[in-house]
Amino acid sequence: PRSKGWWLDELFQYQGFWMSSFPIRGSMLINDHFKPRPTDIIVATSPKCGTTWLRALVFSIINRAAFDFNDHPLRKLNPQELLPSPRLLSTHIPYSLFPKRMTDDTSACRFVYICRDPKDVLVSKWHFSNKLRPKEVPPLSLEEAFDLFCKGVSHYGPFWDHVLGYWKASVESPKKVLFLTYEDVKKEPLGCVRKVAEFLGVPFSQEEENRKTVEEIVKLCSFESLSNLDVNQSVAKRSERPVSNSDFFRKGEVGDWVNHLSPEMVEKMNQITEQKLQGIGFNFH
Ligand code: A3P
Repeated sequence: PRSKGWWLDELFQYQGFWMSSFPIRGSMLINDHFKPRPTDIIVATSPKCGTTWLRALVFSIINRAAFDFNDHPLRKLNPQELLPSPRLLSTHIPYSLFPKRMTDDTSACRFVYICRDPKDVLVSKWHFSNKLRPKEVPPLSLEEAFDLFCKGVSHYGPFWDHVLGYWKASVESPKKVLFLTYEDVKKEPLGCVRKVAEFLGVPFSQEEENRKTVEEIVKLCSFESLSNLDVNQSVAKRSERPVSNSDFFRKGEVGDWVNHLSPEMVEKMNQITEQKLQGIGFNFH
């Protein structure tokens, strides 16, 4: 269906997920041509779950030795230019759409995934879509956005199936897929940064701990710090619509849904989440 707002792209159902033609072609290209390297790090997310934040954190973790923390090192957030290896790649593509040579071979590459309470994802997406909407397109109501999201009709949706794919992979191959939540990173940023570093095989040394490098990284990647830098330049340039860096920074909070969703909406969304994630050993609370 062709719909409105950020949902205005023409979405197609491809291998169980709603996607626009660009990532569908992208996933076909990955399937046919992409040669993963064992050192590749893939930051994977569903849109609006903290992509920008996680990219900045992982980039800082792996490049910290080359950083002068006083010199705004994230201004150079272009992994290919700064350091060719390890490659840091970022995608919204669902886990099941990657070729087996990437997912079944434990030494092929690693994934760091972040997800977020779908109620906050919906609110974030709704604001984002209306911000990016061309003038001639009427705003998308929250009710319409809610309905589409619950039906799974949103970029890379159904949201819950996206989460499930990465969750299952993280349980089956914990050395290959690290599963994080936005809520955990907000609550325990230092612990999460240490966890990511360990997962990537670059744990913080005692000397770095003494120098408070973990704290420096968290500060460098904070909402305030990132929103003042042009870290999403490449995304903005690629887009056909006018996207600015500031569009990726709205509130950066957990639980903003209380200010937007009706009790009925909350109940419905929680019900879908319970149903979809039943018995897997993970939920958003
Ligand atoms: P809100 O719209 O709820 O504020 P993505 O990068 O995947 O597009 O996700 C965007 C969401 O992440 C936005 O959520 C944005 O404010 C939030 N965000 C971006 N950088 C952040 C940071 N450093 N810390 C916390 N939240 C951040």
